[in-house]
Amino acid sequence: MARKFFVGGNFKMNGTKESIKSIVKGLNEAQLDSNVEVVIAPPALYLQLAQSELKKPNVQVSAQNVYDKPNGAYTGEISVAQLKDADIHWTILGHSERRTLLGETDELVASKTKFAIDGGVSVIWCCGESLEEREAGNTITVIERQLAALAAKVSGSDWDKIVVAYEPIWAIGTGKVATVQQAQEVHEAMRKWLRANVSEAVADQTRILYGGSVSGKNCKDLAKEKDIDGFLVGGASLKPEFADIINSNL
Ligand code: G3P
Repeated sequence: MARKFFVGGNFKMNGTKESIKSIVKGLNEAQLDSNVEVVIAPPALYLQLAQSELKKPNVQVSAQNVYDKPNGAYTGEISVAQLKDADIHWTILGHSERRTLLGETDELVASKTKFAIDGGVSVIWCCGESLEEREAGNTITVIERQLAALAAKVSGSDWDKIVVAYEPIWAIGTGKVATVQQAQEVHEAMRKWLRANVSEAVADQTRILYGGSVSGKNCKDLAKEKDIDGFLVGGASLKPEFADIINSNL
């Protein structure tokens, strides 16, 4: 089945009111492939600003994180209900920076994913291996462990609200993009795992994004691969080349 191409822009902890407005203005004015589903994820402080400035129907705003409890005594966290209250319908979860720097476990990420979906927020669920894990030949084992934790929490139609992002940690922010072969090999293994452990339908319909030093130069070759359904972009999402990445499937 044809999976709708998806491109996410993870601004991480970057931006000011002016720079966010400028990025959104650039997207509003760019010629973008209307068949691509696009989300931009500014820092939480600027979610509503980005929302108010956006004028492209196929571009939505996403949070970078959400907590797995309802409103309450969770200082510093954002609730699913508050995202919905702000008319934000997406969040990134399980980014490797939150797993490594903030100790988010496979189980916590899976719990947050289920909680977000139950609350009506769709999820870009991230996974990926470290350089050490890759060099030890454990890449697929690591990714399957992360997928298993997710599949233990979500089921059935939950998967309609999940986009999966494979982001090798060693490629994030390094300029060392995975080769087309490396990326396709892991995406293919992920889809195979979904087919064997969830269902044929989920395997066929789930978008699997590649993230890690995606640029306007390398995106077209990656986009040609049968199991690469789009990108989760960091640094390049802050630059005009983000429009080229959105159009990489044309
Ligand atoms: O979430 C996307 C991000 O981790 C990739 O970062 O700067 O390597 O595109 P970058």
